[in-house]
Amino acid sequence: MCGIIGYIGERSACQVIVKGLKRLEYRGYDSVGIVTEENGKLHIKKGAGRIDELAEKLGLLEMPGKRGIGHTRWATHGVPNDVNAHPQTDCSGKIALVHNGIIENYGEIKEELLAKGHRFESDTDTEVIAHLIEEELKSSESFEEAMRKALLKLKGSFALGIIYTEEPDRLYFVRNESPLVLGIGEGENFAASDVPAFLEYTNRAVFLDDGEYAVITKDSHVVKKLSTGEVIDKPVYEVEWTLEMAEKAGYPHFMLKEIYEQPRAIRDAIHGNAGVIEDVAKEIAKYDKIFFVAMGTSYHAALVGKYLLQRLAKKVPIVEEASEFRYEMEDLIDENTLVIAITQSGETADTLAAMKLAKARGAKVLAIVNVVGSMATRIADLTLYTHAGPEIGVAATKTYTTQLTVLTMLATALARVLGTASEEYLNELESKLKEVPELVEKVLKHDGALRELAEELKEKRDFFYIGRSIGVPTALEGALKLKEISYIHAEGLSAGELKHGPLALLENGVPVVAIAPSGKTFDKMVSNIEESKARGAYIIALGDNESLKRVSDVLIEMPPMDELLTPIVYVVPLQILAYHLAVLRGNDPDKPRNLAKSVTVE
Ligand code: F6R
Repeated sequence: MCGIIGYIGERSACQVIVKGLKRLEYRGYDSVGIVTEENGKLHIKKGAGRIDELAEKLGLLEMPGKRGIGHTRWATHGVPNDVNAHPQTDCSGKIALVHNGIIENYGEIKEELLAKGHRFESDTDTEVIAHLIEEELKSSESFEEAMRKALLKLKGSFALGIIYTEEPDRLYFVRNESPLVLGIGEGENFAASDVPAFLEYTNRAVFLDDGEYAVITKDSHVVKKLSTGEVIDKPVYEVEWTLEMAEKAGYPHFMLKEIYEQPRAIRDAIHGNAGVIEDVAKEIAKYDKIFFVAMGTSYHAALVGKYLLQRLAKKVPIVEEASEFRYEMEDLIDENTLVIAITQSGETADTLAAMKLAKARGAKVLAIVNVVGSMATRIADLTLYTHAGPEIGVAATKTYTTQLTVLTMLATALARVLGTASEEYLNELESKLKEVPELVEKVLKHDGALRELAEELKEKRDFFYIGRSIGVPTALEGALKLKEISYIHAEGLSAGELKHGPLALLENGVPVVAIAPSGKTFDKMVSNIEESKARGAYIIALGDNESLKRVSDVLIEMPPMDELLTPIVYVVPLQILAYHLAVLRGNDPDKPRNLAKSVTVE
């Protein structure tokens, strides 16, 4: 769960690397380190802390050399401190490397190396790799051979960037279950965990697959199989994201920018899928045993997907957190099963493992993914992209609403193929979906009022979010957004559950956020609001019905819409409320404590 950036060319390597690291900070931000090389000597600077403070403190922008590798860390082995920051080196100090992932068998390897006289400085699994390569060099004809031999002994996940003093013209990058992509320039080349790290210089990208490594020089790149060393012919993709898209564009935080990008993102999701959704629907129509697998916010999207498939396609899918599915559902998967995996990053370890398991059991796997070329897209039989563009804020916003957009399109297309809803209704729903970007634009206008509300509520200790039917996932997602960035305790639940326990927690002034659109459960929601109010709760209602004014303390007025579209629009004020509460409480909403954007370990 770290970020890697490597550079080789004619520029000052440290300048390119520091900029790249800033764009990768969302992948982890507890320590930073850089290695550069000049005249056969490695220069290493590293420490615990964030890139901005360390750049100055350590002089990261004054390192010599035109090749180098940088790393931003999210600790997995060894506490975040200066010694455990990457790069890590071997005994000779000729090999330096950075690592994203976890080496499962590092303990055994370390024992063996200790017995052979190696001495270790850090508590990291990463340092072991440098020493193992050094050991293999003793019996190898080349550094590349030693590196391959060493890496084949590792169990676990790794993306690596490796530099060796004796080979002044090259850098090595390796991928196994952690993302890595090459950036192909003119007289310079890059490698990184994600495209925005080098997008300023080139939009030509080569995505490495598991078990592959790349050797880059300033004028060339070669990708090879780790198992055999055989050269692989890899396509070069032109990435459409502009740098501006990957930067804050004037907003104080990426999260706010990404919230405001949602009308555009939803439009792109609709356009990007219009031509392919019918074919995908036809391919999956025959399946009756359907599982959704996902984690976190994507799991909430899966819950919405379940309601959509039930209502429109008359299918009853099972929604499982990928981390549970892996260990619970194995025996239930066969070739008659469809697994729909939802993952914005396409790199979430649990979701990838669930997909692999499903594939191994012969199931059909459909992935709904934001990141093109990510691992999930390579495991899946079919992929639908959400086209949200890069999401830098750790809290998912536009990737969620675009997931919901794609799921709405998929359920509609499936209903059409299966004839489970009238053509007239499906056509109407499709045209209303096209109006959703405008509805979101309207809702964004509540920003000022939501900021004032946040000011009023910023000292509150607990929040409750309630909804019914297709509004339940929205309640869950509203609560998740609040807790992850504001650190206020929040619970999301189905309003029907209130009386069965949680009502005991309601007392004077506790905010209850009620998702209350018009629809078949509206009257029941009003009763639940009233019973909360009777216990002194402070009611914030979201809805389009005038009568909500009577029962709520604050009404966030929503435009009227088909109930099936409400999850996309109603979550937006909840994102904004969470954002303002986080900022007013002095938190950085882009980098919530203890969390990372891509959870690439279990
Ligand atoms: C919350 C959030 C996480 C992710 C989860 C899955 O705001 O972003 O809960 O949704 O880690 O990530 P992906 O979708 O990349 O698989």
